[in-house]
Amino acid sequence: MKDYIQENKKRWEELAEVHFDSEFYNIKKFREGGISISDLEVKEVGDVEGKKLLHFQCHFGKDTLSWARLGASVTGVDFSSNAIRLASELSKELEINATFIQTEIQKLDQTDLTKESFDIVFTSHGAIYWLPELKKWAEMIAYYLKPGGFFYIAEGHPTALIFDDEHESELRVRYPYFHQDEPLAFDYDSSYASGDVKIKNTREYGWVHDLGYIVNNLIDAGLQIEFIHEFPFISWEMYPFLEEREGWWHLPDKFQKIPLMFSLKATKPK
Ligand SMILES: C[S@@+](CC[C@H](N)C(=O)[O-])C[C@H]1O[C@@H](n2cnc3c(N)ncnc32)[C@H](O)[C@@H]1O
Repeated sequence: MKDYIQENKKRWEELAEVHFDSEFYNIKKFREGGISISDLEVKEVGDVEGKKLLHFQCHFGKDTLSWARLGASVTGVDFSSNAIRLASELSKELEINATFIQTEIQKLDQTDLTKESFDIVFTSHGAIYWLPELKKWAEMIAYYLKPGGFFYIAEGHPTALIFDDEHESELRVRYPYFHQDEPLAFDYDSSYASGDVKIKNTREYGWVHDLGYIVNNLIDAGLQIEFIHEFPFISWEMYPFLEEREGWWHLPDKFQKIPLMFSLKATKPK
């Protein structure tokens, strides 16, 4: 079988470096202070002061280090060695304590992290699409949470992912809604954050996961759902005709409102 994860890793190794220098991620501003996490997530996650937080798919650590700036003791994991190197360098440069571990999420239990447990497992914005299935992912979340700890995700809504992301003016169904084992395959020489930089590793594979599949895998792993919130806006320009308002991308007013993003909190029972 084709090694989809290795193909994706090649692309994400390149993207980590390109994104680090991008206007989209604006590292210059982050170096000056502040956080890259939205008010919405900060409010929904709540006070993290003194909490141990594990960040799945942390990219080059901007959000992970933001949680540290808010008082959490943080560990970020990502399969891109360039992302982990850049995250570690940034943490050192900004003198923000953090641990970064390079691993596929699916293989996290094969790392030195095995003996640790956390108050919060966090992941967000363009993460689960890269994972072929969510059973192991949910089990990993449950395994690393302390009893009473919680998982939080803010992510593109599966309903929004069915529409053509290249159509200039309309919502047209193009992709499946329900989880399937076979990935979608694309060749892109750019990314959501690469600007004019051409990406050499064009091939990427992604997996859609319906909302029921996401929620039921968390329930099957033993977590209790606290809330699922749906929002008519998202953190990136998902379709070319979205309009940006106060840091979020919305459909123009002439459209019916549909969910573009969801957030979910689930607790590991004591
Ligand atoms: C869109 S980024 C996450 C964005 C993040 N919320 C941010 O804005 O910083 C997706 C991340 O997932 C990582 N990734 C993709 N597949 C992975 C896997 N199987 N295991 C671990 N990390 C993976 C990529 O290296 C990338 O850093």
